[in-house]
Amino acid sequence: MSVPSPDGQTRRRRLLTGLRPTGKLHLGNYVGTLENDVRLQSSGEYECFFLIADYHALTTYYEQSRQLGGNITETLLDFLAVGIDPEKSTIYLQSLVPEVAELFLLFTMLVSISRAQRIPTLKEQVRDLKLESASLGLLNYPVLQAADILMVKGEVVPVGKDQSSHIELTREVARRFTQLYGPVFPEAEALIGRVPTLPGTDGKPKMSKSLGNVILLSDDARTVTAQVKRMYTDPTRIHATDPGHVRGNPVFVYHDAFNDHKDEVADLKRRYRRGQVGDVEVKQKLAAALDRFLDPIRERRAYFAQRPQLLEEILLAGSERARAEARKTIEEAKEAMGMTYFLGSRGLVAAQH
Ligand code: TRP
Repeated sequence: MSVPSPDGQTRRRRLLTGLRPTGKLHLGNYVGTLENDVRLQSSGEYECFFLIADYHALTTYYEQSRQLGGNITETLLDFLAVGIDPEKSTIYLQSLVPEVAELFLLFTMLVSISRAQRIPTLKEQVRDLKLESASLGLLNYPVLQAADILMVKGEVVPVGKDQSSHIELTREVARRFTQLYGPVFPEAEALIGRVPTLPGTDGKPKMSKSLGNVILLSDDARTVTAQVKRMYTDPTRIHATDPGHVRGNPVFVYHDAFNDHKDEVADLKRRYRRGQVGDVEVKQKLAAALDRFLDPIRERRAYFAQRPQLLEEILLAGSERARAEARKTIEEAKEAMGMTYFLGSRGLVAAQH
């Protein structure tokens, strides 16, 4: 869908999403956001921006800041491996667009401390990382995310379900800015993935690197088979002849999410419910399905991994493009706020407009 811009031309709606470079991406990231990213990029309906959010990673990894470089390469490789196309989309690195920090600063005025403290992910992080208290950086995490999104006037934000509260805050920031200074920013919408939360291989509700229950997009066939073999299934089922539960059973959640042979999945479910199939067959077929799904991703990853120079060019060119957008947006924001000053002959005066 296109929207008319002030100069009468139509422009495509903007899509932005980001990932923290904390290591290699997994199947949960794929169904949460990457799948939508690739689909919407290919539809041609959106101008797409894909962000590697290293400042966001710093909010919890500030002590390991030196490791971020390597992780950035892995995240870039994963983006490219799933099919994000640098010819069609802009892939960029947050810290190469320092303007985002300036927009973030402006936005911090519009969010109260108590509002930021109510964001559920903050409490989860403090609990999971066993922090005594959140740093100001971590408290501001969603405000920085609002700056990412609004910097390119993102309207659609494909994210996992856990990010909804951040997109809601982004909408509040845009609304508040409009109220105070005028319409510069759109209200972004979250686009939640087909499988809102993929369970871990251990049956825990969420696949997450920190829980060690992941299958990585870059895992080879042997690793995938080993992970699937260990996978949690229906704990109430002791023998292959016991009728089994399909609903909420991670093995079948994965079959539904990744097995392109739908007839096979239907057949396995039918037999599982009747106690006519063992876990071994269900798992073998799952491992095979995951390999079919992962093979093209592995191939593209290997292609780009051999071309470090190309990777650098992609990230630098994308960051330049994103930066040009950022500069325009900051200028507009400051203009709306009446903060475009220049040094006139009689000192510092506000620009007339
Ligand atoms: N907070 C997101 C996550 O952890 C990453 C992110 C940073 C992001 N900036 C963003 C996502 C902007 C969407 C839009 O997954």
